[in-house]
Amino acid sequence: MTRVMLIIAGCLLLSACNNPSTKSEEDRFVDQLLSKMSLEEKIGQMNQYASHWEMTGPAPKNSSAQKRLEEIKNGDVGSMLNVAGAKATYEAQKLAVENSRLGIPLLFAYDVIHGYKTMTPIPLAEACAWDPEISKLASQLAAREASAAGLHWTFAPMMDVGRDARWGRVMEGCGEDPYLTSVLSVARVKGFEGNDLSKENSIAACAKHFAAYAFAEAGREYNTVDIGTYSLHNITLPPFKAVADAGVSTFMNSFNIINGTPSTANPYLQRELLKGDWDFDGFVVSDWASIKEIVIHGAAEDLKHAAELSLKAGSDMDMESNAYLPYLKELVQEGKVDEALIDDAVRRILKLKYRLGLFNDPYKYSNEEREKEIVYSNESKEQTRKIARHSMVLLKNQDHLLPLSKNAKSIAVIGPLANDKNSPLGNWRAQAIKNSAVSLLEGIKNAVNPTTEIKFAKGCDLAVSGRNFLNELVFANADAKEMDKAVAAAQESDLVIMALGEDSFQSGEGRSQTDIRLKGAQMELYNKIRKLNKKIVVVLMNGRPLAIPEIAESADAILETWFAGSEAGNAIADVLFGDFNPSGKLSMSFPFNVGQCPIYYNHMNTGRPTSAGNVFWSHYTDAPNDALFPFGYGLSYTKFEYGKASTDKEVYKMDESVKLKVKVKNTGKFAGEEVVQVYIQDQAATYVRPTKELKAFNKQNYQVGEEKEITFTLDQSDLGYYSPEGEFLFEAGLYHIYVGTNSKDVQKISLKFTE
Ligand code: NOJ
Repeated sequence: MTRVMLIIAGCLLLSACNNPSTKSEEDRFVDQLLSKMSLEEKIGQMNQYASHWEMTGPAPKNSSAQKRLEEIKNGDVGSMLNVAGAKATYEAQKLAVENSRLGIPLLFAYDVIHGYKTMTPIPLAEACAWDPEISKLASQLAAREASAAGLHWTFAPMMDVGRDARWGRVMEGCGEDPYLTSVLSVARVKGFEGNDLSKENSIAACAKHFAAYAFAEAGREYNTVDIGTYSLHNITLPPFKAVADAGVSTFMNSFNIINGTPSTANPYLQRELLKGDWDFDGFVVSDWASIKEIVIHGAAEDLKHAAELSLKAGSDMDMESNAYLPYLKELVQEGKVDEALIDDAVRRILKLKYRLGLFNDPYKYSNEEREKEIVYSNESKEQTRKIARHSMVLLKNQDHLLPLSKNAKSIAVIGPLANDKNSPLGNWRAQAIKNSAVSLLEGIKNAVNPTTEIKFAKGCDLAVSGRNFLNELVFANADAKEMDKAVAAAQESDLVIMALGEDSFQSGEGRSQTDIRLKGAQMELYNKIRKLNKKIVVVLMNGRPLAIPEIAESADAILETWFAGSEAGNAIADVLFGDFNPSGKLSMSFPFNVGQCPIYYNHMNTGRPTSAGNVFWSHYTDAPNDALFPFGYGLSYTKFEYGKASTDKEVYKMDESVKLKVKVKNTGKFAGEEVVQVYIQDQAATYVRPTKELKAFNKQNYQVGEEKEITFTLDQSDLGYYSPEGEFLFEAGLYHIYVGTNSKDVQKISLKFTE
């Protein structure tokens, strides 16, 4: 029993005798502990620091690191981020537990975004599986490894609905649709947290970034957000509401301002909505230094003022602004903030520590033996290979070129990413080992018959600068010699597989781009190879949708593999050679041209959507309105035929549900999975609704020749929407229901709701 447990155990016994309250054990424990804490100790719990030094070694004397070590010992720190590993977390925990007056354990947080050491595909890719079980599995895998490395809390899932491929952080989310993001984020939270946070293989999740960060103007990182309340309530907030309802432990606010107020200082979002209307009982952590940035935005005079605004707005924990620790006490003494707000924040933080079981055993996650056994194990690698296969999207397959035969005579494997063992790990790679991914070349070699001749030539480099979280990328120029080698390899082979796309450090935080075509000399290389008239399979590796109209036009096959993680090459080979029939569907539209961004399927109609009957209409004169590949799109090696979809009625009363059915048959030559997608359009709403909105989907495996009847039920919660004031509306009138294999190729049913 820790010191704090002993202190509290005594109090609990007393209160149990004197006060037969209905409070839970947890509430009583937390209340008792709170009653023992000084104001300084409470404020300490609200302070989160990052580790810039080795926790297991001494910090340099007189440094800020030394100061922070003293602060941990003094109980001035409630949580640390970026301390990872069983040993390091054990040492840090000891500092807090053995030295501070109450011995309250630290919470260890880390950005475990898509795996800890075994990397799963980036979240944008994972979302292309359209499969909550896959998302849950990926988060369970991450939680198992992270918890074995002493961590309690991940800053995931990121659930910013993103419509602009210029914004590099789209790689971290589930794409452009609020419904898909809601379903998959709930699954991710369940995967991280399990049913019981005190289990040794679960960690707390964090819904981020609250809110609207992805609406940064022009896709420029950290830029101003000016989103109307109508889009806020219908596009941005629903996934956050979904995970709050599912019981997520924490939220993180965002860097941006929304309509003039920094999110971190936004009482409407955090107090009124999240902790009020949604009844969220967890806590809100600020984003890194976002309290400090309130001053830079121009909404606070100084750091002290920013601390006041943030606390009042409901930001419970200060990540690296160093604003709460120095100023909250003064603010209470001056009567500017009510200590009750501090009590509320601390209560929320202590509850999470209680739920994680840290008051029973603060060291329970820091177990070096478990870490050795679990982290980067073969079992994890097998699972990430499975997740990766499900995340890939077949964009083109002219004349059924894929799947390839494993007995092919010769294959040229070309491109700067073909033997790259680093990029497939993606950005936000936590503790991944550099260059540890299975490359495409290795995966192909592992898959084919030993008699198949594989000729590899990179053709060009992609980035020449140091590739890490902090550097800006510099792209490589063409190198004639390397190009010639690639041309020769292609000439001597029956077929070419080209790996093209982005460097993994091209997307992620701080990686906005105005040009989302293939960078460096890649197009030059592609065009040279194309001229040889060989069959070309393009394997894309990237963290955002790319503008690749020429490749879409002229390649024979295109497989979107994103950044597929530690087992990338093996998983890609599974798909290329037919061990796995691709079933991924795009979670984000691909534009023809960056000028179309933001481009998304669930847009409103304009009054002049086509040229029919109009002299001028809503279009570009130099590019289509449509996406190159729309949301929900993805091919299979087999063929699925849809029967005529029908509903049980044409006219419904307001309290009735729509029963929808459609028969789907696998009429091709391979077993495979199909995602049946259901979209709606409210055709006569008080507030104009999008031309299509995803409301349901169903993913099934179909054997060759198998037919299934797929049924859906749509009720008021699916058919309604939010007014600009946030009121939920479900209105009588005409609705269109669309059923199909992607957001474009659908059949339509019309029906009515009457009062
Ligand atoms: C800033 C990022 O915006 C956030 O998502 C991340 O969790 C924190 N840094 C901590 O690394």
